[in-house]
Amino acid sequence: MKSILVLHGPNLALLGQREPEVYGRMTLTEIDDRLTKAAAEYSQVGAQGLRPLQLEIRSYQSNSEGGLIDALQAARGWASGVIFNPGGYAHTSVALRDAVAAIGMPVIEVHLSNVYAREEFRHTSLIAPVCLGKIVGFGWRSYLLALVALAEIFNEEAEDLNAARPDGS
Ligand code: DQA
Repeated sequence: MKSILVLHGPNLALLGQREPEVYGRMTLTEIDDRLTKAAAEYSQVGAQGLRPLQLEIRSYQSNSEGGLIDALQAARGWASGVIFNPGGYAHTSVALRDAVAAIGMPVIEVHLSNVYAREEFRHTSLIAPVCLGKIVGFGWRSYLLALVALAEIFNEEAEDLNAARPDGS
């Protein structure tokens, strides 16, 4: 079993009502439900040609930097990776960047909107350089694509471990 923290930053609890022309009409609960279903489907099918691997997601939203940092630190105790939409803190927060760098697991930064097609201050992320990668501009599917990336990575790692066992078990 591999567990993934889906971490949502400030103002994302208002999704569905908040600037729907930019962020879409889906609520945060609906996004989390879709991701839970996608993780269950992935657990059945696995990465292409590989044995399926059980995947679970746990979601959390906070408007405060402290709340997000606490969640990242706590993830060390149970998660193997993080899908993180830091919201506006992406562009400002040294403390969140330090937390991402500290936890020693793959973190994928996601944004619903294409931040590069928006105001210039959104073009900079303090967090991206310490992340495995970054996915922007696909609406709620930015999260889904990050989930697929982590699922493929974990699946391949599990397969490599199996292959390394001398008895092939
Ligand atoms: C956002 C982009 C940020 O620039 C903005 O501050 C948000 C949402 C996104 O998902 O597109 O709150 O993270």
